[in-house]
Amino acid sequence: MTAIPFTLKAKNILAEIPQEFTNEKFDDFWLQIRNDYKLKPDYINLENGYFSMMAQPVLNKYLDDVRLINTEASYYMRTIQFENKKKINDRLANLLGCSPEELIITRNTTESLDTVISGIDWKEGDEVIMAEQDYGSMLDMFKQQSKRYGLVQKIVSVPLDPKTDEEIVDLYEKSITPKTRLIMICHMINITGHILPVKKICDMAHAKGVEVMVDGAHAVAHIDFKISELNCDYYGSSLHKWLGTPMGAGILFIRKEKIKTHWPIYGEFGFEETDVRKLNHTGTHPVSTDIAIHHAIDYHEKIGIKRKEDRLRFLQTYWTGKAKKIKKVYINTPADPARSCGIANVGIEGVKPADLSKILLEKYKVWTVAIDTANVHGVRITPHVYTTTAELDLFLKALAEIAQG
Ligand SMILES: Cc1ncc(COP(=O)(O)O)c(C=O)c1O
Repeated sequence: MTAIPFTLKAKNILAEIPQEFTNEKFDDFWLQIRNDYKLKPDYINLENGYFSMMAQPVLNKYLDDVRLINTEASYYMRTIQFENKKKINDRLANLLGCSPEELIITRNTTESLDTVISGIDWKEGDEVIMAEQDYGSMLDMFKQQSKRYGLVQKIVSVPLDPKTDEEIVDLYEKSITPKTRLIMICHMINITGHILPVKKICDMAHAKGVEVMVDGAHAVAHIDFKISELNCDYYGSSLHKWLGTPMGAGILFIRKEKIKTHWPIYGEFGFEETDVRKLNHTGTHPVSTDIAIHHAIDYHEKIGIKRKEDRLRFLQTYWTGKAKKIKKVYINTPADPARSCGIANVGIEGVKPADLSKILLEKYKVWTVAIDTANVHGVRITPHVYTTTAELDLFLKALAEIAQG
């Protein structure tokens, strides 16, 4: 992803939305939600996939907790900390649909999945299947195990617009050999928004004695699902993406029977081998971030996952439906709305992704991120619950003008 130097002067672009674009039936509910976010007026933020800001009610409670914990200091840490953390773990387990005994709070998806990858006793020649569209840090972590233990990375390429689930399941199945130990899949591919048929892949893999680790960075609090329905062995996610926590909150689910043989990254002999908390000894840690998960869940539940998923899918299909009709514009996200939700990716023939995102920002004040890798060439568009169709119309107008050249 190419970063763009950001030097815009403050300017209220939202005030400039032409009258004809303020056409949304923007009901009171979503208006109230939008008002809960403090948005920078300089640009339209369509890059919420990296870190999506906390709503103000969550931020305010989080700041209160930071102050409280700073006042109570070690007293807090030696007393109430553990009880609070347990309550939050239980609440998260309930939200995610797994047992609290299979769940730990981490800092992010990277920490969660690297805990899995580095905790398996790899033998030389063990094979792991992954996709070139998987997240770079995870691919790198496997590369490191490859150098260290002789593990073999088998890399597939996920098609941009599959017509059936079987197309995806077969892709992974064909790469399995007697040496395959694990498949890594994204629940939702971050560069395209593609939702994979996780349960079908897990069922197929388990029938062949292969474990599945799911990178759920973008799925938690974005789409409605329960981990227990997926039949996976490991699931990692970041809560600062779609749950709206402060930066630095994530989860790791590890299937109960896998815990005993899993090696922790940090030494921890205070727990039974079968206790998931043995994987969670990360030293003194900003506990206020953990507590904020509780406030973020309150806010998330006020919206409700079904309503949130519907809204995000509506926003995405709203703009992709119009964009695909513009000459020279192509969409890098599956056409079937059930195979994606809020995230999608768009390109323009003859325009490099980095140039497209630069023009969008500098000329049209639309903030996106360029993706130019792994068969995906375009900009990723990630609206959020506060996004309006008027903003998307402004983006569509920009796309049409750029495509015209
Ligand atoms: C698919 C995917 N996996 C993992 C990550 C890493 O997330 P974090 O930086 O929160 O660990 C990201 C971040 O964007 C991602 O998109």
